[in-house]
Amino acid sequence: MNLGPTEEQQMVKDQVARFVDEEIKPNAAEWDKTHKHPEDICRKLGEMGIMGVAVSPDYGGAGMDNVTYVMCMIEISRGCASTGVIVSVNNSLYGYPVRVFGTHEQKEKFLAPVASGQVEGCYALTESGAGSDAAALRCRAVLKGDKYIVNGVKKFITSGNVARYCVLAATEHPEKGYKGLITLIADHDHTPGFSLGTIEEKMGILASGTAELVYEDAEIPAENLLGKTGDGFKQMMTGLNAGRIGIGAQACGIGRAVVEDCIEYAKERVQFGKPITSFQAIQWKLADMATELDAAELLLLKAAWMEDNDLDFEKESAQAKMYASDVAMRAAVEGVQIFGGYGYCKDYPAERHMRDAKICQIYEGTNEIQRVVIARKLLGAR
Ligand code: CAA
Repeated sequence: MNLGPTEEQQMVKDQVARFVDEEIKPNAAEWDKTHKHPEDICRKLGEMGIMGVAVSPDYGGAGMDNVTYVMCMIEISRGCASTGVIVSVNNSLYGYPVRVFGTHEQKEKFLAPVASGQVEGCYALTESGAGSDAAALRCRAVLKGDKYIVNGVKKFITSGNVARYCVLAATEHPEKGYKGLITLIADHDHTPGFSLGTIEEKMGILASGTAELVYEDAEIPAENLLGKTGDGFKQMMTGLNAGRIGIGAQACGIGRAVVEDCIEYAKERVQFGKPITSFQAIQWKLADMATELDAAELLLLKAAWMEDNDLDFEKESAQAKMYASDVAMRAAVEGVQIFGGYGYCKDYPAERHMRDAKICQIYEGTNEIQRVVIARKLLGAR
């Protein structure tokens, strides 16, 4: 067992950390305020290989591993949680199904531009009536000649407002339940019948757009089918297994930002004639946060290592996502407490971290669903 990073992993992490400190963290509050999509940053991260970390260079990626991906995601989210989720969706939710289930031609066409960061990808599973119960989706795809005609509305789609490509789940045979589902790759720049619906007004991750995607007799070429009819549900579920590692890492990064900001603030803040770091009430909070975040990071690295080694990582990714987001939320709430009255005001980052952390307990499967996934594995139901 070796818990240390390789020289290459450490080098990439240090490079990303420097970029975060110089170009991401100083701008995060402004992007949050203006809801600005960090377009330039995404392009620069693409040039650094971070929009497709584990994708082969043959398809525009960096050809590194998922352990490196986790390390980069934590750093990026330490700087800006919105940028973190955009990077995660690109690499995992979109990147994983196309990388694992796509043909060579599909990967050249639909993975390379996304993994190299020229354009973004998104993942469309959720609908208004199909959230935790993903198999209940209604979006319908009917094969007509060489095209699928798609009708339906997808909800809460991260980066849906900016992404060019989308892995889209639809049912071709509703009578077959989850076994009737397919995954299509939609090119939203060239999909007649596609339009954007509502862009959600959210509590946090405000620089990341969350959109409704509307398909009205939308035409998608039949050659954009991923795998075969009936594979859709499992493709989307395994995409979520990968995505949950990204979200856990996003949460861990938010937690790291909380600790970093609290230490900086508490060393400066003087009460009763001393910096508040001299009080055990503050020290114990910091000690608990740091310990829980270290444990979360280990779970994340283990899940990523299992993915890298072609092991079944469904349970481990659910555990890592659930635990990391729960401890990040706890840290964020305590962070506001350490900042006191200032923590409740927008001049300081503490309240943003609390708003950003909350979503990690909800998206890519609520933490209640993660417990279902973990328990089913433990009980041998899967
Ligand atoms: N990995 C691999 N295979 C899986 C799987 C997983 N995580 N989950 C289910 N499967 C497989 C099962 O093994 C089963 O296969 P067989 O046919 O071989 O038996 C098949 O899929 C059906 O599984 P279930 O009977 O367990 O299906 P279910 O309907 O009971 O649902 C669930 C299981 C775990 C509740 C699933 O629906 C789920 O994960 N729900 C949460 C959905 C979710 O996370 N949505 C978030 C979407 S993305 C987002 O939030 C925002 C964004 O922008 C992207």
